[in-house]
Amino acid sequence: MKRKLILLIIACLAIGMQAQTKHVTDRTKLAQTPPMGWMSWNLFSSDISEDVVKEMADAMVSGGFRDAGYQYIFIDDCWQGGRDNRNNIIPDPQKFPHGIKALADYVHSKGLKLGIYSDAAPLTCAGYTASYGFEEQDAKTFADWGIDYLKYDYCNAPTDRATAEKRYKAMADALSKSGRDITFGICEWGGRQPYLWAHQVGGQVWRTTYDIRDMWKDTLHKGGVGILDDINQNADLHSYAGPGHWNDMDMLVVGLYGNSGPSSELGGVGCNDIEYETQMSMWCMFSSPLAMSNDLRNVNAATRRILLNKDIIAINQDPLGKVAVPKVRNDNYQVYLRPLSGDRY
Ligand code: GLA
Repeated sequence: MKRKLILLIIACLAIGMQAQTKHVTDRTKLAQTPPMGWMSWNLFSSDISEDVVKEMADAMVSGGFRDAGYQYIFIDDCWQGGRDNRNNIIPDPQKFPHGIKALADYVHSKGLKLGIYSDAAPLTCAGYTASYGFEEQDAKTFADWGIDYLKYDYCNAPTDRATAEKRYKAMADALSKSGRDITFGICEWGGRQPYLWAHQVGGQVWRTTYDIRDMWKDTLHKGGVGILDDINQNADLHSYAGPGHWNDMDMLVVGLYGNSGPSSELGGVGCNDIEYETQMSMWCMFSSPLAMSNDLRNVNAATRRILLNKDIIAINQDPLGKVAVPKVRNDNYQVYLRPLSGDRY
């Protein structure tokens, strides 16, 4: 009887281990095309909450954004409520009274995916609890919640490239052990040439610039990045992008029109619709992730036309994943050529 029991326990353990091995994901299959979604930072900053996320998920569906290919709701900074007495990271109970798992279930029930945010230091850019030293524990928590994407920032961390590589690798390794397919977005703002190492350490996406502002071009020279500045900074990075590894040009500012929020800082006075149209077009030509940042609950006709343009989205999502190459660049105009699947350009 005792022997039978022991055999049974061994059998159960073996089955458990097998199930675990099955869950080890093939991370080379992640982000075969650039991730598309909506990001909370610009509109809500620290006012993020489960109600907001649910409303945006609803608007993604009712506004036709999901059907056009937008998939993720990316929760950005300011969701955290510290750690519990077992050091598990927890959401702010006022902002997320039902917890992130319930929210992820809601988002998934709409046919969408949920992203979350942390940082490779003890504190995030906005000063909330972050993941340094807790990589495996937090990755496991995110997996248990049903998170599909992690944006991993680099505020409050040492500036050298070697440390950045080490800290990003630690989280990428933790995500691959977490048992869930969590796409990894590296956000060190391009300063340490992430296109040279971010994919190798386990990232699918890496920001190539400082935060974009709602403006065509930086005229103040206080560090703001406008749409044209961003295009120029990415023009020569085409060879680093491809299925599973993308240059991230930061959020779309389409439809913001200078409304307040982080994108209005450093000269972010707003753009006109032709400038927004250009952002959408070039983010698609360069296969950047497309993270909308406008209020999806209230979208005007021009913004809808730009964000839901099926032809330009098809270029962004083209399965060949070859990014546009500059052919002519002078002070007056630039010409880019992008190869597409099926021998098209
Ligand atoms: C950094 C990032 C932004 C945003 C904020 C949040 O500035 O680059 O995209 O995530 O932090 O604090």
